[in-house]
Amino acid sequence: MDKVYSEFFPELKFEKFKRIEVVGDIAILKIPRELEPYRFKIGGEVLKCMPSIKTVLRQLSPTSGSYRIKGFEWLAGEHRTVTVHKEHGCIFKVDLSKVYFSPRLLFERLRIAQLTKPGEVIVNMFAGVGCFSIIIAKLKPVSKVYSIDINPDAYKLMVENIKLNKVKCIVKPILGDSKNVIEDTLVNSADRVLMPLPELAYSYLPSAILCLKDSRGWIHYYDFIKAASSENPVDKLSEKVSRILNTFTHDWNIEDSRIVRTIASRTYQIVLDIHIG
Ligand SMILES: C[S@@+](CC[C@H](N)C(=O)[O-])C[C@H]1O[C@@H](n2cnc3c(N)ncnc32)[C@H](O)[C@@H]1O
Repeated sequence: MDKVYSEFFPELKFEKFKRIEVVGDIAILKIPRELEPYRFKIGGEVLKCMPSIKTVLRQLSPTSGSYRIKGFEWLAGEHRTVTVHKEHGCIFKVDLSKVYFSPRLLFERLRIAQLTKPGEVIVNMFAGVGCFSIIIAKLKPVSKVYSIDINPDAYKLMVENIKLNKVKCIVKPILGDSKNVIEDTLVNSADRVLMPLPELAYSYLPSAILCLKDSRGWIHYYDFIKAASSENPVDKLSEKVSRILNTFTHDWNIEDSRIVRTIASRTYQIVLDIHIG
């Protein structure tokens, strides 16, 4: 679905081709400054060229704030920010103006689901509208997924998505700060903990460890790291997390790692699959 503006406006000299992100039937464009005067026309063309698209939005601001929300401007089609996105046989209702959602985590969500084992108890500390939790519950015979988010709108949509995907018996939605939720109700409960919030994962790592059953299990830790050309970003991040992990136990290992995506020049989002105990 990734098309470039050059297809629509071959007469314009595009320096940088930007991808179009598609969430359900909404297309999201990043308009370069020099093309701002043409943005509604571009939006209209995208609508014409992509028959599955009903709304075209322009991303105005990057993800920000504790709810990780982006700002949008309407460009063409129906005036709305709510849509239904399909991924790995699941459906997710999202409101782009109120919650975080990225279709780019598609591979990562499936990868984590495939790592889970039958009967596991999983805690998703930063669940958004429930994507990781629901995909795991749909694809693998886990026993429970506690799915926490602090954003009331994400929580409401997560409740709806759990019903839509018929995983009510497995996924338990929880509204709150995952640190408090874990301390109050989930200490010593999980085989596996997901931390898909790079901005907060480091400071919440002690809560993730607290959550593991008998201090053993898996933590999927996401973080951003800037690395010079002489540095290996995964090694640099491993060194950073080792400082916290070593204060709890020396019995841990990073079993796998990958660069999820490049955020900016030499800045990466990385996931570490950490086994403890
Ligand atoms: C990057 S998004 C998660 C995306 C989600 N895992 C997905 O696959 O779509 C991070 C989420 O963490 C939530 N969040 C931020 N601080 C939190 C906290 N202290 N406790 C629980 N959730 C939090 C935000 O509201 C946001 O929905």
